[in-house]
Amino acid sequence: MKTIHLGFLGFGTVGSGAAQILEQNAPDIETRTESKIRIKAALVRNLGKPRPFAENIAFTDKAETILEDPEIDIVVEVMGGIEPARSYILEALRRGKNVVTANKDLLALHGEELFNTAKQTGKDLYFEASVAGGIPIIAVLKQSLAANKISALLGIINGTTNYILTAMAEQGRNYADVLAEAQKLGYAESDPSADVDGLDAARKLAILASLAFNSRVTLPDVFVEGIAKITSEDLQYASELGCTVKLLGIAKHLEGGGVEVRVHPAFLPNSHPLASVSGVFNAIYVVGDAVGETMFYGKGAGSLPTGSAVVSDIIQVTRNIHTGSTSSINCTCYHDLPLTESRD
Ligand code: NDP
Ligand code: HSE
Repeated sequence: MKTIHLGFLGFGTVGSGAAQILEQNAPDIETRTESKIRIKAALVRNLGKPRPFAENIAFTDKAETILEDPEIDIVVEVMGGIEPARSYILEALRRGKNVVTANKDLLALHGEELFNTAKQTGKDLYFEASVAGGIPIIAVLKQSLAANKISALLGIINGTTNYILTAMAEQGRNYADVLAEAQKLGYAESDPSADVDGLDAARKLAILASLAFNSRVTLPDVFVEGIAKITSEDLQYASELGCTVKLLGIAKHLEGGGVEVRVHPAFLPNSHPLASVSGVFNAIYVVGDAVGETMFYGKGAGSLPTGSAVVSDIIQVTRNIHTGSTSSINCTCYHDLPLTESRD
């Protein structure tokens, strides 16, 4: 049986979640891939930190140890940020390695460059974990709903802010306390202002809208407003009106052509399917011309839900290695649609 060697760039919340799943579910994963999948090395900043699920992994603080190792088949980028993650991924692809990443910051800004490089090198670049944690929404848009012309996509796509809004509305808890708890639980970004200011959701919306509309949508195209100004009075007022406050990502294909992409808090009637999505859960409501209305729901952040998405990509890339195929989404194949920031 072939052994597939992984090199992790980062081994924090998401990296250790993926390692836990690879260890605990090894027999099933082995059967599904007809391979042994082994994490050979992991890049970290602090070599002295104790780490769970790290047995037999060689930790390093030098990226070359992984990028220049000819035995490593798949580089798993779970370190986050723009640089050096961007350079490492480009280097990995150019050195003939497949890449799995959870990095929405990077994809929302430099997706085109990364996907072009994957295409030129004939390597896989998978990114299921970049949007909505454990919900397989990338696979849905790439494959399962690919028959449809999608007219709208509406989602709760940030777990931290949904966790905060839910705890404030349902338990009357204080914003700062709940944010600190979300950080402790591994839901928040390393700079949590990315969550509360709506940037994280905007990055994810750029990725989703690019896939849904075969369009070129990047972070600067998205109108963004976060939850920092939401008060307990707003939540009380919403409740009196039979509504719930949610941070929504909204992407619409406009009738005259063009795409509207925006992230902002909204009063949602309690009867709307997204209104009952609480805590760290995310949901994405997608409308296609053939399928009609669909909704995808699950945990949007955290070690194991996000690790689930990372490992599912590793499994798919392993299968591609066996069949000699690559199937990165070809993000160079889009129409340039005019973008508008108009709001309803
Ligand atoms: P963490 O901060 O928990 O982990 C980051 C890891 O990368 C750590 O092991 C850190 O080393 C290492 N690292 C960071 N920068 C460097 C560097 N310059 N050189 C060497 N090592 C480095 O982040 P997460 O696991 O939460 O997030 C990782 C990625 O996944 C991000 O892109 C994030 O946006 C994304 N993501 C996160 C989700 C979540 O729920 N947390 C959900 C979906 C996506 P050390 O351990 O020594 O500090
Ligand atoms: N900080 C992100 C969130 C992690 O809270 O949704 C998952 O992408």
